[in-house]
Amino acid sequence: MTDRYAVFGNPVVHSKSPQIHAAFACQTGQDLDYGLVEAPLGGFADALADFVTAGGRGCNITVPFKIDAFEAATETRPGAEQAGASNCLKLQDGRIIAENFDGIGLLKDIEQNLSTPLAGKRVLLLGAGGATRGVLVPFLSASPAQVTIANRTASKAADLAQGFSAHGPIEGIGYNALAGQAFDIVVNGTSASLNGDRLPLPDGLFAPGALAYEMVYAKGLTPFLNQARAGGVTNLADGVGMLVEQAAEAFAWWRGIRPETAAVIRDITVPLT
Ligand code: ATR
Repeated sequence: MTDRYAVFGNPVVHSKSPQIHAAFACQTGQDLDYGLVEAPLGGFADALADFVTAGGRGCNITVPFKIDAFEAATETRPGAEQAGASNCLKLQDGRIIAENFDGIGLLKDIEQNLSTPLAGKRVLLLGAGGATRGVLVPFLSASPAQVTIANRTASKAADLAQGFSAHGPIEGIGYNALAGQAFDIVVNGTSASLNGDRLPLPDGLFAPGALAYEMVYAKGLTPFLNQARAGGVTNLADGVGMLVEQAAEAFAWWRGIRPETAAVIRDITVPLT
């Protein structure tokens, strides 16, 4: 029988996950069906229960249900535990096992696909919400010189840094404290670009040869990427590679076979223009 998987979100109709997992299934010869579930706001647990009853084997979770998914789990794995949220569930023999592959997906995209190892680098994460929280442990595990979190609400950045200080060198500050500092890797994990908002980034923020990475994808040159380009950055990326890499981790966890990602990233990339 064909195994069922799905991505849960609201809205979810524009998700690329069905296309990505269909490509992985084709490439690896796995018999699976991967669909979309638009759960009503406040209705994640019921929608998940229906999916389990219908024989669902696993799901990905996108906005706004990552915390609901974590709370619905009967077991949590370290990635989900550290993020306090889950983007991937395995449904097995009545168990709901929660993981989170966003952080490892971003790390793999930056280190392997974009050939930018974090070791020894000064890394800046913009924003102190769930998107940033989920990448802190994978980033600190990659031995950067320093991870700095900058956030509009400086206290949230400081609290987040404090909570992860056992994992490596990390600080949390407000945007005004960025003046005079330069970074090798700058990742935008705020939701500012989705609203077309510019961030208050000081001149000189990007070190020579820096990578500017926008976590959202398929939005073209966002305000953040435009700011980076104006600051002399030529190494610009959006989150398409992160999306495909986290999907590959999920696929490998569910199916026990690791798909190739490069061709899939190529197929769904929207040029940064
Ligand atoms: P997510 O879970 O997707 O990360 P979130 O928890 O709502 O979403 O966090 C959104 C992040 O974007 C926050 O860091 C927020 O800053 P505040 O903590 O100060 O609210 C940041 N953000 C959103 N809009 C912004 C803007 N216009 N300028 C600067 N930061 C913004």
